[in-house]
Amino acid sequence: MSTFYVTTPIYYANGEPHAGHAYTTIAADVLARYHRIKGNEVSFLTGVDEHGANIDKTAETEGLTPQAFCDKLAPIFTKLWERLNISNDIFLRTTSELHKRGIRKFLTALYESGDVYKAPYEGHYCRPCERFFPEKELTDEKICPIHKLPLEWVKEENYFFRLSKYQDRLLQHYSDNPDFVYPESRRNELLNVLESGLEDTSISRSSVSWGIPLPFDPEHIAYVWIDALPNYITALGYDADSEKYRTFWPANVHMMAKEITRFHALLWPAMLMAANLPLPKQIVAHGWLTKDGEALSKTRGIFIDMDGDIETYGVDAFRYYLMREFSFGNDGDYRPTRLHQRYNADLANDLGNLLNRVLGLVNKNFDGIPAPSTPDDIDTEIVEMAQTTSEKLDEHMATFAFDSALETIWEFVRRVNRYVQQTEVWTLAKPETIPRMGTILYNCLEALRYISVLISPYVPETAEKIQKQIGLSEFDTVAEWGRLPVDIEVSRGEPIFPRIDLKKETAKQEKKTKEQKSSLISFADFQKMDLRVGSVTSAEPIEGADRLLKLQVDLGTEKRQVVAGIAEHYKPDILIGKKVIVVVNLEPATIRNVESHGMILAASDESVVLVSPETEVPLGTQVR
Ligand code: MSP
Repeated sequence: MSTFYVTTPIYYANGEPHAGHAYTTIAADVLARYHRIKGNEVSFLTGVDEHGANIDKTAETEGLTPQAFCDKLAPIFTKLWERLNISNDIFLRTTSELHKRGIRKFLTALYESGDVYKAPYEGHYCRPCERFFPEKELTDEKICPIHKLPLEWVKEENYFFRLSKYQDRLLQHYSDNPDFVYPESRRNELLNVLESGLEDTSISRSSVSWGIPLPFDPEHIAYVWIDALPNYITALGYDADSEKYRTFWPANVHMMAKEITRFHALLWPAMLMAANLPLPKQIVAHGWLTKDGEALSKTRGIFIDMDGDIETYGVDAFRYYLMREFSFGNDGDYRPTRLHQRYNADLANDLGNLLNRVLGLVNKNFDGIPAPSTPDDIDTEIVEMAQTTSEKLDEHMATFAFDSALETIWEFVRRVNRYVQQTEVWTLAKPETIPRMGTILYNCLEALRYISVLISPYVPETAEKIQKQIGLSEFDTVAEWGRLPVDIEVSRGEPIFPRIDLKKETAKQEKKTKEQKSSLISFADFQKMDLRVGSVTSAEPIEGADRLLKLQVDLGTEKRQVVAGIAEHYKPDILIGKKVIVVVNLEPATIRNVESHGMILAASDESVVLVSPETEVPLGTQVR
């Protein structure tokens, strides 16, 4: 038995997971399940990346400590994975003690390699990416290539990892292991980067507080990527050199989307080389899931209604669609109408009807699964096709061609449907042909069992339903022809994919979209807001909250204390005497132990600008 260790990226815990995260996790799940039924010992890791400035910032805007915020987010991920039937063996959180111990051990090893040094650093920094961009990767506008936002010029004293030193060894590794990065387009991209030269990279942040302190200088916090990448070993118990770690490392597959391959295929292997540890066998990158050709974006309202589609079509249809529709490695546009078509054509028609029809005939004519007699040529053809389907499937799985793998299985499903047609099995219920009918129906049931094994990594629930309906009490995972016992009772057969009417479904979807879009509020609603002009009389920082200020605001007839998230944009003394607009009838809240009785208005995008009346007006004047 061989071992197989597959990982997904650990997703940032600063927002809820979406269909893009689901895509990677389902792909990794398919691999894990496939290797399990092949008899391999599998470990499948996913998890959340909980440190870094972004998470700290989001937590603060919600009035939570970063830990409390992460404690709220992590279960949202695990619940989604349960819902999607993800069979991960490990769920790693970077705030766990296991991970922190592992990171301390790994960073100590890195430091002791002599390839870590301290130096001042300045450069173009993207906050959402939490990384510096080298000049040569940027245009004159200095815009983040991923987020399309202006970059900040940041100066810091940091620790650096001598990545440049590993260029030659990496090149050698790429040439010795042509499949190290898959697909080839990504490999070529990284080879270009490698050939143009690597720069040393900073591994710490002195300006960030939410993270793991460097074991050799606790004043500095590990850069979020340096904290994140080793999760693949810390999750296995690298800290204690555990049995699991020794069994499963190096990983077989690190699965991810294309945008984070550089971290995984350049920095991570170089760090492992420095720490004298084996490298993962393969970095596998798929494309992006898009909606109407655009990148998914919460702020721009571009999202995939994963919950709605799962509710309508079920988890397996959603998993099937994602794996069947997109060619791995390329971007793919998510279209609910295609999901609908695939549901009706592939699942309900081809597979669901076949099962139903065969069970109907068995129930009507036999007391259980009939015994087969001497096969005809056409029967042998089916048996042979089962075997070749399995072989082709293995080839596709080796290159992550999930779409072709499913197409191959469905060619067989359609062949079995044709077998039913060609043999006109329903006409054979006469005494002289009943043995022939039994043979054909046995073959159909065995083909369905065989198919259920092959599809089980993709649609595990469906696979189980099929085996239950054909009478097996325990799931049989072996794709070998002839294992189906005879005489056992088959069930009546509920449709596994009841047909869904597109017209009705579209109407339902449209209604839902309309409801979601009707974010218009009535004038009466607007009037409920009590907005007043005020003047700031005092402003002071709040201990332990870098982005918050405690303000006293004079509203003419009364004074109010308000907590505002503007400390990064306004120095307290500049604010004194400033006119602001206050929402005075907002529910009071306690933020970082400070009471806040209202909210001041600001135009807020990347920067934050307070809204002020254009000319002098008395304090307390209402804003309408
Ligand atoms: N925390 C880092 C990863 C650290 S791994 C050591 C991170 N997190 S993330 O939340 O931004 O997740 C990025 C990953 O989510 C992608 O690489 C991909 O696996 C998945 N996807 C996010 N959006 C996606 C699409 N639109 N389409 C497909 N996959 C997507 O980066």
